[in-house]
Amino acid sequence: METYDAVVIGAGQAGLSASYHLKRRGLSHVVLDADDSPGGAWQHRWDSLTMHDVHGIAALPDSASPGTPEGRANTVVPAYFGDYERTHHLPVLRPVRVDRVTDEGELLVVHAGDRTWRTRTIVNATGTWTQPHLPYYPGIADFRGEQLHTVSYPGPEHFRDKRVVVVGGGASAVQLLGEVAPVAADTLWVTRREPVWRTDEFNPDRGRQAVALVEERVRRGLPPASVVSVTGLALREQEREAERLGAYERHPMFERIEPGGVRLPDGGLWPADVILWATGFRPAIAHLAPLHLRSEHGGIQLDRAGTTAVADPRVQLVGYGPSASTIGANRAGRSAARGVARWLEDVRSAARAG
Ligand SMILES: Cc1cc2nc3c(=O)[nH]c(=O)nc-3n(C[C@H](O)[C@H](O)[C@H](O)COP(=O)(O)OP(=O)(O)OC[C@H]3O[C@@H](n4cnc5c(N)ncnc54)[C@H](O)[C@@H]3O)c2cc1C
Ligand SMILES: NC(=O)c1ccc[n+]([C@@H]2O[C@H](COP(=O)([O-])OP(=O)(O)OC[C@H]3O[C@@H](n4cnc5c(N)ncnc54)[C@H](OP(=O)(O)O)[C@@H]3O)[C@@H](O)[C@H]2O)c1
Repeated sequence: METYDAVVIGAGQAGLSASYHLKRRGLSHVVLDADDSPGGAWQHRWDSLTMHDVHGIAALPDSASPGTPEGRANTVVPAYFGDYERTHHLPVLRPVRVDRVTDEGELLVVHAGDRTWRTRTIVNATGTWTQPHLPYYPGIADFRGEQLHTVSYPGPEHFRDKRVVVVGGGASAVQLLGEVAPVAADTLWVTRREPVWRTDEFNPDRGRQAVALVEERVRRGLPPASVVSVTGLALREQEREAERLGAYERHPMFERIEPGGVRLPDGGLWPADVILWATGFRPAIAHLAPLHLRSEHGGIQLDRAGTTAVADPRVQLVGYGPSASTIGANRAGRSAARGVARWLEDVRSAARAG
């Protein structure tokens, strides 16, 4: 069986960027991706998310970004990724869902069902989309209405004439409220802390500040916090109608969920047909558990370069924490390829010395 220099797990923005840079360095590798077709998480975004609505898709290395043409993000971005894979002859295998990575002495073994790949390093690029965070609140199992998370948002029509509770204070909550409030019978927005509204533009300087805050956390081995806790929130033209309707009047979290609605801290019951959990995501890293990468603080500690796991430098994490944006994922791909090359060189030097 072939032993690769690297196995990349995941073919979203982060995995494709890593593969491009590994290839440029002449490092043997394969990219294993769980989806049936190219596009990473973008192929699963809701239909009403257009290229005009996204915050912006950074260009993959050595290509031009799809920019903001007309069209749905869940078709434009996958087409862009598919074209990129073909143009650069990236070695993507799909569908392959990795279920665990084990440490076999000098090598790592990547398992997907009964298939295995032997490798000197891995670049993990599995994103967060497959790990929606659904918090527990008392009474959650008794609710008679419908409960949905951002990942299965079916578009605004589904909510017509319904009473909808939206939970969470991130960009998902704000954007979904923007679509739902104009057609729903009523909406209630609840968050566990006051939303932090940005009055200035989210320019590259603000982006760098946000990334620095997350870097600081993961360097200490803490798990990444919510994205909005470092970026803050803003309303755009698309949300003006919902704003006019009062949808962004924020309420504190309900105390519990009851069969017919949610019980508010003032004791009143807000009758509800739907609870929409816009409560974010967690890194999809369960398959790395056998490597025991987590620090005592619950996160995977990364080195100063921002992609190498301190607990095992054979492991690179891209699209994790500070690189969980398209621009961050892009840069992380380059840094990860450098980290892989550095590890291989260290092993060769040690072999020569020994
Ligand atoms: C609704 C929404 C809108 C966003 N809009 C923007 C935006 O406009 N601009 C921006 O910069 N960022 C945006 N982001 C953040 C951005 O999407 C992500 O940071 C980035 O696209 C993630 O890329 P990725 O490669 O890390 O992960 P993904 O795109 O999630 O790709 C991960 C890949 O890994 C595969 N995978 C997962 N688990 C396994 C496994 N066990 N085995 C094998 N393969 C696996 C998946 O099949 C998938 O193809 C948005 C996020 C959300 C949720
Ligand atoms: N158009 C677009 O481009 C677009 C649209 C939507 C999303 N996005 C992107 O998608 C990514 C994810 O955004 P997101 O809004 O889904 O997630 P997020 O920014 O991580 O926000 C998650 C929210 O859920 C809250 N939350 C978590 N646990 C909770 C609990 N137990 N009880 C109550 N609330 C809880 C968090 O509160 P705390 O902050 O207190 O933890 C936070 O307000 C971001 O990168 C965002 O920019 C982009």
